[in-house]
Amino acid sequence: MTATARLEAPTPDNVLAACALEVAPEQKRFVAPVAQSLAEAYVHPETAWPRLICDGERVVGFVMAFFGVPFDHDAHTPGAPPRSGLWRLAVAAGEQGKGYGRFAVRAVNEEIRRRGGTHSSVTWHAGEGGPEEFYLRLGYRRLGPTEDGEYLGELDLTR
Ligand SMILES: CC(C)(COP(=O)(O)OP(=O)(O)OC[C@H]1O[C@@H](n2cnc3c(N)ncnc32)[C@H](O)[C@@H]1OP(=O)(O)O)[C@@H](O)C(=O)NCCC(=O)NCCS
Repeated sequence: MTATARLEAPTPDNVLAACALEVAPEQKRFVAPVAQSLAEAYVHPETAWPRLICDGERVVGFVMAFFGVPFDHDAHTPGAPPRSGLWRLAVAAGEQGKGYGRFAVRAVNEEIRRRGGTHSSVTWHAGEGGPEEFYLRLGYRRLGPTEDGEYLGELDLTR
C-alpha cells in the first residue's frame, strides 16, 4: 500500500473497474459481487455508502458502509439502537495482505465517528478462508452467532 491509497465514490469513469474486481474463487462465498453491492446502494441511497479502494491508478478493493440502520439481527431486541458499520468489503485477490482492508475499515470507522456514531458493526460467515481473523485483529469483538448462522462483530469507537 502506498501513500496514495484513498477511497473514491463510484463515478462513470471508475464504475466498470469496480465491477471487474474479484476476490479469490474460494472467497466468493464470503462476499457479494461488487455489481450487486452497487445495485443495493442504488436502492438504499440514504443509508449505503459505497466506495472504491484506490491506490495510484489502480482500483484495489471495494467497501460499502451503512449508517443508522436498524439491524435484522436486533428484530427481537426492543429498543435496540440503529447501527452503523461495514456492509461489504472486498480486496482484489492479488492485492490482499498489503493493508488495504485495514485502511478501508479505518476510513469507514472515521466516517461513522464524523457522523456521531460510537460503534462499528459487521457480520461475517465463519469458515475456512473467511474474514473472522481479520476483524478480530482489527479489534472487533465477536458477538453471536445470529439466527442466520452469521457472526456479528462490534468495535467500540469511543476507546
Ligand atoms: C478480509 C479481507 C477484506 C482482508 O483484506 P486485506 O487487505 O487482505 O487485509 P490487510 O492486509 O489489511 O490485513 C490486516 C491484518 O489482518 C490480517 N489478515 C487479513 N486477512 C486475514 C485472514 N484471512 N486470516 C488471518 N489474518 C488475516 C493481516 O495479516 C493483517 O495483520 P497484521 O496486523 O499482522 O498486519 C480480504 O481478505 C478479502 O477481501 N477477503 C474476501 C472477501 C471477504 O471475506 N470480505 C469480508 C466480508 S464480511
